[in-house]
Amino acid sequence: MALWQNPDWFDAGRRQEQLDDHIVKTGKARFGLRTFEENEKVKAVRRHFNRVAPKYDFMNSLLSLGIQHVWKRAALRMLGLRPGERVLDVCGGTGDLAILAARRTGPAGRVVVYDINWAMLAAGRPKIDPFPDLAHIGYVQGDAEHISFADNSFDAAMVGFGIRNLTHLQRGFAEMHRVLRPGGRFLCLEFSRPVHGWFRSLYDFYSFNVMPFLGQLIAGSAESYACLPETIRMFPLPEELSAMLTQLGFGRVTCRSFTDGIAVAHVGVKS
Ligand SMILES: C[S@@+](CC[C@H](N)C(=O)[O-])C[C@H]1O[C@@H](n2cnc3c(N)ncnc32)[C@H](O)[C@@H]1O
Repeated sequence: MALWQNPDWFDAGRRQEQLDDHIVKTGKARFGLRTFEENEKVKAVRRHFNRVAPKYDFMNSLLSLGIQHVWKRAALRMLGLRPGERVLDVCGGTGDLAILAARRTGPAGRVVVYDINWAMLAAGRPKIDPFPDLAHIGYVQGDAEHISFADNSFDAAMVGFGIRNLTHLQRGFAEMHRVLRPGGRFLCLEFSRPVHGWFRSLYDFYSFNVMPFLGQLIAGSAESYACLPETIRMFPLPEELSAMLTQLGFGRVTCRSFTDGIAVAHVGVKS
C-alpha cells in the first residue's frame, strides 16, 4: 500500500531502522519506505536528486508556500556567524544556506557548498555566480559520509534538509564534527513531526495528497514528492536527535522548532 493511503507516523522502533547500527547489522537501508542494499541507497538518492534538480527551488518554495526561506534565515542566525569565518554547507544542494552564510561571513570568509550531486550544485549556480558579493562561495562534489576536508578545518558546519537522505546518518554527523575546529558551531535544520494533532492531520493530508499531486503536475513525478514525507517520518524526533548529537560529541545542544514543529533547527558546539 502506498504510504499516502496510510499516513501514520512511525514509532521509535521503526525510526531506529534509519540508524547506522540497524543498517550495518541488516545490510539494508531505507529511503522512505523503500528498502535498498546498504551500498545501493546512495545511488537511489542520487537518481532522485538528479530527477528533481531542475525544479528543486521552485517546487520547494511552492510546496512550503515560501516559508522554507523564513526557516532557513532563522536557523542560520542561530549559528552566530562572524565576518571572516569558514563555513561548510553539507548536502548544500542549490546553496540557499550557503548564500545566507556568505552574506554574514563577508568576502574575508569562505563558504563551501558540499553535495554529492552535481546537478543540484549546478541548479544553484545562477543564484551565486553572477554576484560579486558571493564570490567567496565554492562548490565541492562529495559524499557527506566521507567529507573531503581535513580535521578542524571549519568554524561552522551546517546541513539543511539533507542529512535524512544519508545511508549512515550518524556517520554524516560524525564527519561534520570531525571537520569542525574545537569550539566550532554546528547547525542541522530538518523536517519533523508537527506538535499538535489537528495540525498534524492537516499536514498529513497535504503531504500525502497535495504534494504528490503537484509533484506529478509540475515536475512530472508523484513518486519523487511522495518520497519526501516518507523520509521525514523515519527521521529521529527532536529529543532523539539532541541525544544523538550529544552522544556524538557535540556540546550545548539546543533546538528550536518552526511552524508547529514542521521544521526543527538543532545547534551545538564541538568541545
Ligand atoms: C533536500 S536537498 C537540500 C538542499 C539544501 N540544503 C536546501 O536546504 O535546500 C538534499 C541534498 O542532499 C544531497 N545529498 C544526499 N545524499 C548526500 C550525500 N551522501 N552526500 C552529500 N550530499 C548528499 C542531495 O544531492 C541534495 O542536494
